[in-house]
Amino acid sequence: MDSILVTGNGPLNGQIPIAGAKNACLTLMPATLLSEEPLTLTNAPRLSDIKTMTALLQSLGAEVSSLQDGQVIAMSSHNLTSQTADYDIVRKMRASNLVLGPLLARFGQAVVSLPGGCAIGARPMDLHMEGLEALGAEIELKDGYLHARAPGGLKGAVHEMRFASVGATENIVMAATLAKGTTVLKNAAREPEIVDLVECLRKMGAQISGEGSSTIEIHGVDRLHGATHQVVTDRIELGTYMLAPAICGGEVELLGGRMSLVDSFAAKLDAAGVSVTETQNGLKVARKNGRVQAVDVVTEPFPGFPTDLQAQMMALMCTAEGVSVLEERIFENRFMHAPELVRMGANIEVHGGTATVTGVETLKGARVMATDLRASVSLILAGLAAEGETTVSRVYHLDRGYEHVVRKLEGVGAKIERIKGE
Ligand code: EPZ
Repeated sequence: MDSILVTGNGPLNGQIPIAGAKNACLTLMPATLLSEEPLTLTNAPRLSDIKTMTALLQSLGAEVSSLQDGQVIAMSSHNLTSQTADYDIVRKMRASNLVLGPLLARFGQAVVSLPGGCAIGARPMDLHMEGLEALGAEIELKDGYLHARAPGGLKGAVHEMRFASVGATENIVMAATLAKGTTVLKNAAREPEIVDLVECLRKMGAQISGEGSSTIEIHGVDRLHGATHQVVTDRIELGTYMLAPAICGGEVELLGGRMSLVDSFAAKLDAAGVSVTETQNGLKVARKNGRVQAVDVVTEPFPGFPTDLQAQMMALMCTAEGVSVLEERIFENRFMHAPELVRMGANIEVHGGTATVTGVETLKGARVMATDLRASVSLILAGLAAEGETTVSRVYHLDRGYEHVVRKLEGVGAKIERIKGE
């Protein structure tokens, strides 16, 4: 397994290009299952999760080609041969469950393995099932698989989700595009990735309104046609790299960044003493004056503070002046980066869903282990600011969500390299 060696090397300066959003692409790709006509995505990120989704769609019989070094994904689901998403693929990536709604809508049946737990939490599928059952689906849990059927087709309905789940919103919206009648989905998730999905579905002929708000209305149509869609910028990669100059000093411009993607996060950085300004080409980030100040963080569904930036923000708070309390309200076990940061000299106390961080002047380089996607990059951020060398092992986690990390950080002056593992 490869590892990454980071050596604290002072302030960072320059530009970092931000890629297309992993979590938008992972819901846009299954949308191809809704139509017999080709769906092409541009600005796609080059990530291992995208390769996993490609393999899943191909296992269903879809044609999926990766063009222009992976930045274009051309898909066609003209002749699907299976409606079963196998455990071997789904267990690797929970987002595989996003084929459930489209398969059910197009074919009236789907067999999708339960994803199984993952490092950050149990992550059940009850909200997905409740929503699809509201549209008339019959779903049975057998041998670890969800067996979903809608023999007479799906019917529009009014459904209020108990929690604004991102994936459940995506599955229900995709299913509703081909249901008979109108669906009103209440307490829908509002993430930009959902707005991006709806914009793509609309290009395919879907009749949807309200995306980005808590109520999304979908008028079912008989069929959807092909389209070409540009994947929205990745707000989590954007937020991650905004923290690089915040933790190291210097000034970095994030190309393609837009304030509307990271409003609450940028406000939190501003309160901590980090300026974020919109430029012609993106967002420019720099400390306002010297050491950042501790601020409190509570993770919430969009537009609140993103849970996917909690680990990275904790790394910044480890070097801030004062005490920061971070409350993780979305996942039940998303502090696994804390003990690794403590190995670097951080002062963190975790009690249940709350971590209390007392900032220290400097962190010390150490050997640390990545435990999940976002934890892995929080350790790299800490290593950028630490004295000495930090080796982050198990970087396969990193490859799931961040393309060309070493190249992007080297480009702004970081001392970082990837060490080939055995
Ligand atoms: C999406 O996961 C993202 N993944 C996650 O990003 C992100 O952390 C999460 O949304 C929250 O923003 C993709 O988009 C591929 P949820 P998702 O359904 O859809 C519980 C990353 O790092 N829940 O909004 O699975 C669940 O257990 C990944 O890129 C149920 O209880 O998230 C969790 O505690 C990590 N029942 C909470 O809701 C359900 O049926 C939020 O889950 C579904 C979810």
